[in-house]
Amino acid sequence: MLYYKYYFMKALLEALQPGEKDWELAQSLDPTRLPAHIAIIMDGNGRWAGQRRLPRVAGHKAGIGPVRQTVETCARLGVKVLTLYAFSIENWKRPRAEVETLWRLLRFYLRQELPDLQKNDIRLQAIGRLEALPPQVRRELDSVVDATSANRGLVVNLAINYGGRAEIVDALNAILDMARIEGSIGSLKLDEEMISTNLYTASCPDPDLLIRTSGEMRISNFLLWQIAYAELYVTGTLWPDFTRTDLLQAVLEYQKRDRRYGGLSGAKAAQTNGSEEARGETLIEVLGPS
Ligand code: FPP
Repeated sequence: MLYYKYYFMKALLEALQPGEKDWELAQSLDPTRLPAHIAIIMDGNGRWAGQRRLPRVAGHKAGIGPVRQTVETCARLGVKVLTLYAFSIENWKRPRAEVETLWRLLRFYLRQELPDLQKNDIRLQAIGRLEALPPQVRRELDSVVDATSANRGLVVNLAINYGGRAEIVDALNAILDMARIEGSIGSLKLDEEMISTNLYTASCPDPDLLIRTSGEMRISNFLLWQIAYAELYVTGTLWPDFTRTDLLQAVLEYQKRDRRYGGLSGAKAAQTNGSEEARGETLIEVLGPS
């Protein structure tokens, strides 16, 4: 298992020159504590274009390069799942020309990337209310999803016409439909596992690390259920400027976090069990008798 993890880090190091910044960053990562699932809110394309007095769509076009590099770096690192927020349910509110450009870019990306996805054993999946996509976009998306479905390396989830609340509603309706078919609706009792296994991401571990670019401190209806214990990382970098260095820095920062899932950190828990309890420092002693 350990060998497997080092194998992937080796794949990243092979793409880098010793001494360059990314090589140093990659060297300082702990290959045994990589996030299994990274989710990214790719924000700031419009502002990037605005700063250059370009139309907003130029920012979306410039956002394709960072998508390619992020996918490649995650594959080389040995991350298992990468989820990218490409189009939210709310994005339909944008001008029609912008929305149409986003579909054109998606189709361009799919066509351009298929050979590389195959070569690198990457599986592409799409999450969201896909039935509302323009038919041609849906066809091309389905064909890349099918073509890569047997790949066993990195899973890339493209969130398209995606909303976190809509996903939860869809999961609950799927559970209700199944219960109706099985005739068990009268005794139906929901639990967390039932909801998790009916989400679009049912086959994936929950994200460990959620990255948002462009500095906004919002979740924007992204993976609401799944990010319950994700580590959040917000960078001021606008998405078109997001580089491999930014990604490695986010992973390094993630590795410094103490993930407690509502409990105590490992060291603190051991200390508490071994000393405070042994010394009888109970709540009553700290607070005094009532
Ligand atoms: C948010 O920036 C970004 C989007 C709504 C679209 C993301 C799309 C890409 C990165 C293009 C390529 C992606 C794929 C998968 C082919 P914004 O427009 O909200 O920026 P702003 O907040 O500065 O206005």
